Amino acid sequence: MTVPLHAIDRGRGEALVLLHGFPLDHTMWRFQTEALSHHYRVIAPDLRGFGQSSIEPIAAKTGVPLGDYADDVVAMLDEKEIVGPVTFVGFSMGGYILWQLYQRHRDRVRAMVMCDTRAAADTPQTQETRFKMAESVEGWGSAHVAHLMTSKLFGPTTMTGSSKLVEEIVSVIGRTDPVAIAAAQRGMAHRDDSTPLLPTINVPVLYLVGVDDVISTREEMKSMAEATPNSKFVEIPDAGHMSPMENPAAVNRAIEEFVEALPS
Ligand code: MLT
Repeated sequence: MTVPLHAIDRGRGEALVLLHGFPLDHTMWRFQTEALSHHYRVIAPDLRGFGQSSIEPIAAKTGVPLGDYADDVVAMLDEKEIVGPVTFVGFSMGGYILWQLYQRHRDRVRAMVMCDTRAAADTPQTQETRFKMAESVEGWGSAHVAHLMTSKLFGPTTMTGSSKLVEEIVSVIGRTDPVAIAAAQRGMAHRDDSTPLLPTINVPVLYLVGVDDVISTREEMKSMAEATPNSKFVEIPDAGHMSPMENPAAVNRAIEEFVEALPS
């Protein structure tokens, strides 16, 4: 069963749907919604359990398969009577969900922007780390998750110069429901390897990566782009994993150029 999603929906014209990362919410897209809504209809949901969208407590134990998050997004578009294909932007976990959305709802996808994300499945070691967090997060509290994650999220330019951005993300993670954290960690741990999908993708794909991203590295994302037939690869300077927040001007420019060049 799908869950209704809270979403911001701003601007007019062609729809761009922005899927946030873990364990964040739609606010990570604030620089994109501000700028891109001048030209497009920008829809940024809170995925199941994150931000203002709800989740059943049992999901902390069962996990949420990534396909279910994708189905929630499509149900939200149905609710808004957006039935034609649209452009999706998936950041990190949002990208993992976008692979699922493409496979389950191919007719809803016009183009994809894959931002600081991966196609590969987890190693056993990463899975173990995710299961540990899923089991412990209720006791730890979400603020501890923020403490564990922050240094990997940002590049050196932000870590030395933009403490406000870092504080903002620490506070978003700190107020995230531990149930959502546990559920998504289990879902991500069980996700399939999407690498075999890449050569079969028949919509345009833009790959964006912060040059200092240590979670989804530029080498890895470059090889994803090389494996995808109709793709473009853009490196975002002065940014780590959180490129949409760390260098929004470069990210917005790359998205606009990509969308403007799409066949009508
Ligand atoms: C994210 O930013 O969504 C996470 O780094 C994804 C992950 O944990 O693999």
